[in-house]
Amino acid sequence: MKINGFAPPCLLLSVCLAAVVNAQTPVPHLEKRGQATQLIVDGAPFLMLSGELHNSSSSSLAYMEPIWPKLEVLGLNTVVTPLSWELIEPDEGKYDYTLVDGLLKQARASHEKIVFLWLATWKNGMSSYAPLWVKEDTGRFPRVIAKGNEVEILSPQGAATQKADARAFAALMRHIKEVDSSDHTVLMMQLENEVGVLGDTRDHSAVANQAFAGPVPAELAAYLKAHHDTLYPNLRELWDANGDKTSGTWAEVFGDTEHADEIFMAWHYARYIQAVGASGKAEYSIPMYVNTWLNDYGATPGQYPSGCPEPWVVDIWRAAGSAIDIYAPDLYSTDFQKWARRYHRDGNPLYMPEARGEAVGAANVFYALGEEAGLGFSPFGIESEASEKDPLGESYATIAKLAPMILTHQQSGDIHGFVLERNLDSVEFTMGDVVLHVSLDDSFDGTAKEGYGLIMETGKGEFLGAGKGFRVTFTPYPRTGQHVGISYVDEGDVKDGKWVPGRRMNGDEDEQGVAWRFSPHGQTIEKVVLYRYE
Ligand code: DGJ
Repeated sequence: MKINGFAPPCLLLSVCLAAVVNAQTPVPHLEKRGQATQLIVDGAPFLMLSGELHNSSSSSLAYMEPIWPKLEVLGLNTVVTPLSWELIEPDEGKYDYTLVDGLLKQARASHEKIVFLWLATWKNGMSSYAPLWVKEDTGRFPRVIAKGNEVEILSPQGAATQKADARAFAALMRHIKEVDSSDHTVLMMQLENEVGVLGDTRDHSAVANQAFAGPVPAELAAYLKAHHDTLYPNLRELWDANGDKTSGTWAEVFGDTEHADEIFMAWHYARYIQAVGASGKAEYSIPMYVNTWLNDYGATPGQYPSGCPEPWVVDIWRAAGSAIDIYAPDLYSTDFQKWARRYHRDGNPLYMPEARGEAVGAANVFYALGEEAGLGFSPFGIESEASEKDPLGESYATIAKLAPMILTHQQSGDIHGFVLERNLDSVEFTMGDVVLHVSLDDSFDGTAKEGYGLIMETGKGEFLGAGKGFRVTFTPYPRTGQHVGISYVDEGDVKDGKWVPGRRMNGDEDEQGVAWRFSPHGQTIEKVVLYRYE
């Protein structure tokens, strides 16, 4: 601003200070550091020890008031918090940021970061979070036709709906920039929630039918061609089986089955949501992701939301734009590791905004962060399990101490995480010149029923581990005829980032030098130093 051609000195100073602050503290963003893509907050990698609230909790500041202290006690540093279009824009063009501002204030007072969920056009496939002025106007905001009926799912073909959602999201991001671009309480945004058509394989509205009978967009065909070798295997096989065509209708290019319907819906949801994300990023560019209702039960599209970013259609979503940074599974599956691997691929970092908590989560968080370089972990309905005795709290406390080390070792790739149980009672890792044989702990007082943890290589022949219920023996790599012995094992703690040794773990505790043991009775942090002998 200039007054009579001169900028007042105080204004210049504040502009300069703002520029310095912005230059020093870039907004939260994703960055490839070494082997891992990490979330960078205030210049340093950040591990989200998070949890997602139940859907309705954060719609009331008064309801949230007593919840924040519980989340802090559980050891969360980040709360995944719904925000709905219906409450942000109750009347068209009139925005209400009371909840945003209130939630930010509460989060800051509780030393928590926030990931906001933008529950707007879709939530679990349906459109219940759209404002009433959108729901009522079915002419301007058309709906999906499923099995011949108009259903309460807004159609991704609706250009006016997309524009309205994008405009509201842009307004929200503009506001978040105004109130948070120096604090960085808001780390990421989730766009919509578990989108996709339920009750049919695709939208059968007249507009959708016409698009389905028309050609596959040239950008999509070009993307498939350029990325052929790295496409998700099921998608590549499907495209190959239909002759790798780069033109034709959806049924011609992808085959006349429900797979073409699912790919068609994936493209249209992706186009819509990429556009919503891009309009938000134009205001304030922090990481954005979409989450997925996983088809973990062998169903057909429509029995699970058709078009949702299942692993086999993530490439379709990527072809539709670049505003979405992360494709995330809602990982309730009992086969946690399989689904984690399916999403941690081809440059997509792993984050699951919803997972099982309690004892199951307490174990899986070690696998996610240690084995798949996870950005964080996040059980659903976190306020229901928040108590001092929750096993997840024990894991979060252990991991919080080790977070800087975990992040460094994610970058260098010399970290492993694991979960063991009776059906998978051992794993092996080669780290440096040693093979680590990790198995359920077994001692004079019985075999552990479960074990989990992570191990980092902190030096040549030196490892730091954390967790419970497992033991590790060592052999040389490559095989040399030598043996690897244990010089010593120290239990310890990490205080202010420094290793503080406690008990020297010998005798029963390391089985007379045979195994590096982690008791099944509670999590410990231990360091082992090895030596070689003939
Ligand atoms: C998955 C959804 O994404 C959540 O919002 C919530 O509805 C849970 N399911 C309920 O289990």
